[in-house]
Amino acid sequence: MLKTHGEGTPDVVSGSLPLSDEALAARLNDAMARVEDLLERKLSEGDEIVSEKVLHLAKAGGKRFRPMFALLASEYGDRPMCDDVVKAAALVEMTHLATLYHDDVMDEAQRRRGVESANARWGNSVAILAGDRLLALASGLMADLGVATVRHFSETFGELVTGQMRETVGARGGDPIEHYTQVIREKTGVLIASAGYLGGLHGGADTERISALHGYGRAIGMVFQIVDDIIDVFSDPEESGKERGTDLREGVFTLPVLYAMAEDNETGARLRELLDGPVTDDAVLTEVLELLERSGGRERALVDVRAWVDEAEQCLTHLPDGPVTVALRQLAEYTASRVG
Ligand code: IPE
Ligand code: IPE
Ligand code: MG
Ligand code: MG
Repeated sequence: MLKTHGEGTPDVVSGSLPLSDEALAARLNDAMARVEDLLERKLSEGDEIVSEKVLHLAKAGGKRFRPMFALLASEYGDRPMCDDVVKAAALVEMTHLATLYHDDVMDEAQRRRGVESANARWGNSVAILAGDRLLALASGLMADLGVATVRHFSETFGELVTGQMRETVGARGGDPIEHYTQVIREKTGVLIASAGYLGGLHGGADTERISALHGYGRAIGMVFQIVDDIIDVFSDPEESGKERGTDLREGVFTLPVLYAMAEDNETGARLRELLDGPVTDDAVLTEVLELLERSGGRERALVDVRAWVDEAEQCLTHLPDGPVTVALRQLAEYTASRVG
């Protein structure tokens, strides 16, 4: 197994997500084990000089949120958790993993999933190539799944890259909160939506259900990223497995920061003064983090989290009642509750 339960970053399936339906939990755990096996098999293929690098982060942990959602989504069709669904789930996780390798290069991140990032360990070139290798492996699985999946992936990945590009070029005078919202919809929402879409599609769900799963995925993707951005600023690195303030160091101002900067008070004014570019000085970073803690940025961002959870729940009204829909409702709550 790639991941040993209980090690690395929190494991949703075995621990934190309480699935009230035991039969569903057992099916999900079995199917997740098949996803893990497939991932390990594929990532171990080829020359060791490459496989060693792509296995590095895969082995380090991660929540496996996207494949788990793909598996749950497949329950709305007549081929739940079949082999094609397992392939779809694995390909989404591989794609996600590829974006993490590339993201850590762009963000100059030192830690990921509780271990040294690939760029920190081997340098940018190796990290970029490891991400490319993962995309190559994902393409192989897509080829098995057929043209509809390849086309869907092309659109998904195109949108994801547009989001990363939009974040990189910045708001350029536009409304920073609108810019942020569009960025996270593209860079994060799209792949989680895709997990729902591909899980539904390969599980044999009908178009209306696939569309509800896609919408739900997009909404919890928004929850997911805003929560991740709150964690970047406010959480203990031990818990997140990443460094605190990585986004600030890169000059990427996320939602809680943007709300704090917009405050019409001394805290807001000082933040606007300090945050006119990347934060390179450790003393400045400490001051910024203290100001952010004093601000209402976190609370204001949590209001948006709530609105996206509501949107996700709205999408669930288009799906039949039952244990899977209950699980998805719990998943939305779980995603939001990572920040407490
Ligand atoms: C991290 O995603 C990147 C974001 C889109 C916020 P995850 O939080 O799902 O990362 P892992 O897979 O659990 O490490
Ligand atoms: C990750 O964005 C989004 C993608 C990888 C597409 P972030 O840069 O915000 O994620 P973390 O905080 O590094 O995981
Ligand atoms: Mg990053
Ligand atoms: Mg980033």
